[in-house]
Amino acid sequence: MQKLLIKGKKEISGSISISGSKNATLPILAASILAQKIKLSNIPFVKDIFTMIELLKFIGMKIKIERKNKTIQINNNHKNINTLAPYRLVKTMRAGVLVLGPLLTKYKKAKVSLPGGCAIGSRPVDLHLFALKKLGAKIKIKDGYIIAEAKKGLKGSKIRFPSISVGATENALLAACGAEGRTILFNCAIEPEIQDLILFLKKLGFKIKISGRSISIQGNKLVKKKINHHIIFDRIEAGTYLIAGTLIGRKLILKQIKPKILKCEINVLKKMGAKIIFKGNSLTIFKSSNLKKISLSTKPFPGFPTDLQAQLMVLMTQSKGVSKIRENIFENRFMHVPELKRMGAKIVIKNKTAFVYGASKLAGAEVMATDLRASVSLVLAGLIAENRTIVNRIYHLDRGYEFLEKKLKKCKAKIKRI
Ligand code: EPZ
Repeated sequence: MQKLLIKGKKEISGSISISGSKNATLPILAASILAQKIKLSNIPFVKDIFTMIELLKFIGMKIKIERKNKTIQINNNHKNINTLAPYRLVKTMRAGVLVLGPLLTKYKKAKVSLPGGCAIGSRPVDLHLFALKKLGAKIKIKDGYIIAEAKKGLKGSKIRFPSISVGATENALLAACGAEGRTILFNCAIEPEIQDLILFLKKLGFKIKISGRSISIQGNKLVKKKINHHIIFDRIEAGTYLIAGTLIGRKLILKQIKPKILKCEINVLKKMGAKIIFKGNSLTIFKSSNLKKISLSTKPFPGFPTDLQAQLMVLMTQSKGVSKIRENIFENRFMHVPELKRMGAKIVIKNKTAFVYGASKLAGAEVMATDLRASVSLVLAGLIAENRTIVNRIYHLDRGYEFLEKKLKKCKAKIKRI
């Protein structure tokens, strides 16, 4: 198994181009089931994207990848479609469940493996199924599969989500596009990745409006023959490098981003003492010598994202005093804590809150990644720790970070894959 070897305390400077968003690409790829010919650009070629491509090919899409110019072309002639998403493809990439809504609304039936849990939580899909049932789907669970059908097609409806879910909002949105009549979804997730999905669907010809946390969709059967779409930048990758710059950046420039989408993250880092300069579609960040403590909770957008919680915790270990971060979204997203403590971090967890006592000197160690964002927090810790850090099981990292070590090496970090 591959590992990352990091020699700590080496300042990073230079510029990093932020890749396209994995979490925008995945639902947009699922939405290709509703389309005919699409060309997607600014694609992050990370593991999860390849798994979703494999799933779409299995379903019957014709897909052409051009890695050097980061594009994917999809041709869907809607012939010989297999409305099945098998366990072997969904178990490693939970977002495979996002093909359920489009398959059901387009072909009136779907058999999709239950995604199962993962390291950070049980990851149920009850809210996805709740919404599809409201649109008229008949759903049963058998042998670990969701078996859904809508013989007469789906019908528009008013649906209020009992709690906010990114995936359930996306599945319901995609299903409503092919439903008859109007659907209004209430209490939706409105992450930038969902807004990018909506932009894509509007290009396909669907009439969709967002107001607050409500989304209204006018279903229709006709879509535009051919559309192009440029995937939005990855705000979590950008946030990760913003934190790296605050920790040990001399003058780190992040390019190809939309700073206003990072308002919450930038405010948090500024409150902790980071110096951040905006310039058009790029940000420059300088490390801060005396980081201040902070207390916050993870929230759905526009709050502080759960996907940056592990990374921010590394910054908290370097801030004077007791910082607190409460994980409100997932039930088990502190797996990076025992590994950070082995590097010298002083962290106590009480219920859903981590109390981080700083500033503490971190020492390099051999550590183990457990999930995508925990693994990158260990890389950040390695960048500032004394001596060498070895991060094991970096296949977690490869699911969501494109060219991580290449981008950091270009900024003078001492990091290599072994
Ligand atoms: C998406 O996951 C992201 N994944 C996650 O990013 C991200 O952490 C999460 O949204 C929250 O922002 C993709 O977009 C591919 P949720 P998703 O449904 O849709 C509970 C990463 O690192 N819930 O918003 O699965 C759920 O258990 C990944 O890139 C139900 O109870 O997240 C969780 O506690 C990790 N029933 C909460 O809601 C449901 O039917 C939020 O989950 C669905 C979710």
